[in-house]
Amino acid sequence: MNSLIAEMSNVQFENQHPSQGDRRKELLQGLQQPQKSVNPKYFYDARGSELFDQITRLFEYYPTRTEKQILQRYRSEIADYCGRGSILIEPGSGSSEKVRLLLDALKPAAYVPIDISAEFLYQSAMQLGEEFPWLKIHAVCADFNHDWAVSSALPQSKKVFFYPGSTIGNMDPAAAASFLSTLREKMGRDGGVLIGVDLHKSEQRLNAAYNDSQGITADFNLNILTHINPLLDAEFSRETFSHHAFYNTDEQRIEMHLVSDQKQTVRCNGSAVSFEKGETIHTENSYKYTLEGFAQLAQSADLEVQHSWLDEEKLFSVHYLESI
Ligand code: SAH
Ligand code: AVI
Repeated sequence: MNSLIAEMSNVQFENQHPSQGDRRKELLQGLQQPQKSVNPKYFYDARGSELFDQITRLFEYYPTRTEKQILQRYRSEIADYCGRGSILIEPGSGSSEKVRLLLDALKPAAYVPIDISAEFLYQSAMQLGEEFPWLKIHAVCADFNHDWAVSSALPQSKKVFFYPGSTIGNMDPAAAASFLSTLREKMGRDGGVLIGVDLHKSEQRLNAAYNDSQGITADFNLNILTHINPLLDAEFSRETFSHHAFYNTDEQRIEMHLVSDQKQTVRCNGSAVSFEKGETIHTENSYKYTLEGFAQLAQSADLEVQHSWLDEEKLFSVHYLESI
């Protein structure tokens, strides 16, 4: 489906969302592997996006407030690198909270939030459009790992990808390199990437961030089952699974799993998926980088770090990249 709806004079909404058939195929494939998995993009239905927003406000979840501090503090320098009057494109825009910190400094010619969570994207874009009536917003509901296109109807200005939140960390390094290459191709020779990357730190701090005391991250993880049930015509019961998140030191990533609390068989799209007690569905990786490791990743996509901004505790980093 590819539809364009003009809702407010400054906000447009375009749907490039993958079909239900494609999603079902992908989900079944993941659940039929020896290590069952569901792609983390399935966290994000309207409820999942709302839960993620709650996570970003938790004390234990340091990345959001730290990155916001960096963006706020260095917005004018950031604008010098990104340039004013560019097209600002945010893959995985969520609530579009962070871009608000940059809008006055960057004065973009247009803002293009891209997200898989259609309803949440729509509400967020409308809200932003109301708060910033001068801002031209072209929201696109799409899977940023599949085919998507930046509308040719947008002004012909420099393209800057804004990719905060360390969403890059949810891809394994090979997929991350390939995603960065795609951004490089789409932005052209004079474009740029402003990207937020979470850094190595104590295992204790990382484990706390993904095992919060209020259980919001657990709820977020379990919500994936509620989301995929209708997509798969399945009967996963969230009462029979538990949240498990831990830092995998060898892989330098947080892993999130859903553990089956019992031996069970779940009806799924006319067939069955069986679980031993303790068997898991791997739902997310969240890779953590060193500054050198991230610079190498960027280089493997023919991108060069022009500048990096960090907080005082060196918990989180924001980088501006350009083509080599
Ligand atoms: N950029 C925001 C939100 C980050 S959360 C911030 O930094 O606060 C990650 C966002 O990416 C979510 O809103 C989720 O819906 C979206 N997302 C995850 N996988 C996606 C995919 N494959 N395609 C499009 N959006 C995706
Ligand atoms: C969106 N993404 C970068 C978050 C992360 O930290 O990996 C998603 C998340 N998962 C659990 N808590 C937050």
